[in-house]
Amino acid sequence: MLKSSIALLAAVLLLSAACAASAADAAAGKALVDQNCTACHGGMMSMWQGKSAADIDSLIHEVVSGKKPHPKDLKPLGLTEAQIADIAAYWSSAAGK
Ligand code: HEC
Repeated sequence: MLKSSIALLAAVLLLSAACAASAADAAAGKALVDQNCTACHGGMMSMWQGKSAADIDSLIHEVVSGKKPHPKDLKPLGLTEAQIADIAAYWSSAAGK
């Protein structure tokens, strides 16, 4: 009984650690956006309305890879996967507000 409780506790701890590591950080996303995107995107927040973080994440990937035309080349920013996820989390939560 005690052994299985300890195993369960360990599993729960591992799972929550994994979630914390992969959770996108909208506050970090806001900081990145304010620095690199808001000059143009500040007045276009409605374009993210109804889009999930996953939708926006893949749109940003298309822009970064050059698949989608975009006024500013985002490649030189060298955004990491985590930073793109943070921006997507921020835009999806802030759209329409
Ligand atoms: C120089 C101005 C400018 C800057 C800076 C800028 N954007 Fe944009 N971006 C635009 C414009 C204008 C559009 C809308 C194009 C349209 O509606 O066809 C757009 C559209 C997009 C789209 C949607 C593409 C699509 O077709 O749906 C994404 C994603 C995007 N921008 C990401 C970013 C990110 C991330 C940053 C900051 C790291 C950024 N942009 C910085 C001007 C800018």
